[in-house]
Amino acid sequence: MPTIGLGLHIQLAHNGLVNTALGPERLARLVGDFDRAPAYRGLSDVLQELIGDGRIPIGTRLPSERTVTAPLGVSRTTVTRAYADLVASGFAVAKQGSGTYAAVPVDRRKVHDRARRPLGMPAPAAGSVDLSIAAGGATPGTMAAYERALQALPSYLVGDGYLPSGLPDLQARVADSFTDRGLPTYPEQIVVTSGALAAIATVARALSRPGDRVMVESPVYSNAVEALRQGGARLVSSPLPDPLDSEGWDLEGIDAALRQTSPRLAYLIPDFQNPTGFLMSDADRDRYAAALRRARATAIVDETLQPLSFIDGRMPAPFAAFEPTAITIGSASKAYWGGLRVGWIRAPRPLVDRIVAARVRSDLGTSVLDQLVVSELMATDGILPRRREELRQRRDALADAVRRQLPGWRFRLPEGGVSLWVRLPGGSATRLAVELERHGVQVAPGPVFTVEGGSDSWVRIPFAKPAEELVRAVGLMAQVWPDAAGARSSTDAARTLIA
Ligand SMILES: Cc1ncc(COP(=O)(O)O)c(C=O)c1O
Repeated sequence: MPTIGLGLHIQLAHNGLVNTALGPERLARLVGDFDRAPAYRGLSDVLQELIGDGRIPIGTRLPSERTVTAPLGVSRTTVTRAYADLVASGFAVAKQGSGTYAAVPVDRRKVHDRARRPLGMPAPAAGSVDLSIAAGGATPGTMAAYERALQALPSYLVGDGYLPSGLPDLQARVADSFTDRGLPTYPEQIVVTSGALAAIATVARALSRPGDRVMVESPVYSNAVEALRQGGARLVSSPLPDPLDSEGWDLEGIDAALRQTSPRLAYLIPDFQNPTGFLMSDADRDRYAAALRRARATAIVDETLQPLSFIDGRMPAPFAAFEPTAITIGSASKAYWGGLRVGWIRAPRPLVDRIVAARVRSDLGTSVLDQLVVSELMATDGILPRRREELRQRRDALADAVRRQLPGWRFRLPEGGVSLWVRLPGGSATRLAVELERHGVQVAPGPVFTVEGGSDSWVRIPFAKPAEELVRAVGLMAQVWPDAAGARSSTDAARTLIA
């Protein structure tokens, strides 16, 4: 077992994740009050919930029975029986001489693995609504931007067209957009990429190597998880709290995880986190940045959803304004159109050459025409405000339909982004997704977004599609729900998550 830093033990779990240990005080805080009788069953139920929805990551070593009795205020027998109950139900495994570790029951793990397996994307049946992708059609004004870009293209055709750092005009516009948000940026700090996902993979390849650790929040945009593994690093999961009873990131837990695991990189989505919708406050950015500095970890900050704010006032400052070593990733996909395949990396200047070198190992540059289009879109007043207003109306239509037709489903209304993260009152989201798919609605169930399984009482419902489609989809969900809530299913939702 490798040992690091202060003698804390880190183990590699079967799924390549790095295991961490949970302290007794922290476990007691997570568990809170439970007055269900008998006490051991109440404790086991709460722990199952915490493990099932990812707040205690799979592979975490639970505190020893002896140390946890006092903070929980229960007898040793209660803890022993609760842990035995967890093991019997598959939510923990006991390892001789080593302790008890959080686990996913085998049947749920299988569903989770299958939900991620690429099977190709079958053409959707007529009348079906695909809400598995958190993206919609192009922003109005995109076609006009293509036309203007075509007119600008001839002057580029005399050159070789290979621009591994990006089109200078777009680098300058992206740099200006950071400067306008309070983060002074030079064009040379920007590397234009073929989308944000490619940007994440490039940074992982440039800045991590086998044996390193990368901290990832969970639940999270799942393609980022695979992209972050590209440098060969192991992932450490840092659970996000339940959005129904929390405002955002658990900075105490993040600080502890950073100290225990010393990751080289930490990936976070502070703006309308996908899928929870959390927005990190300025004060939390400051605290998070300080914790990263103490742990000497570099932040990879994914701002893909940042432009989509419905807030009237000022948005929090870019994370890199609190931590100058942070690498920021952005994208044109959500603000304008996913088909553009344009994103960017903003990095401290000393790292830019390394990032470009990592990029050209798999991709020599982004299409010049698409970069010209994004440059046009960014230069056109009014496009983003209209996009935001359109999405805000769609969010309200979806939220309204869910509240009326599925009153037991609960969510926190996000102040931006493209999706609702909805908690079901019971049952399994994966089973619901399977039933819904049969009725022509595709949604991504919670486990798709977790690094290690869990979150099966959650479902992500994006509001990027037109309101009528959303309302129709919710109507179908309300029809399917009474049966799906209790149904067992032998098949599964085998789709690849795209966005
Ligand atoms: C947080 C986040 N990062 C990255 C991406 C991928 O973006 P792109 O289309 O620019 O590759 C998405 C897409 O949904 C996302 O939600």
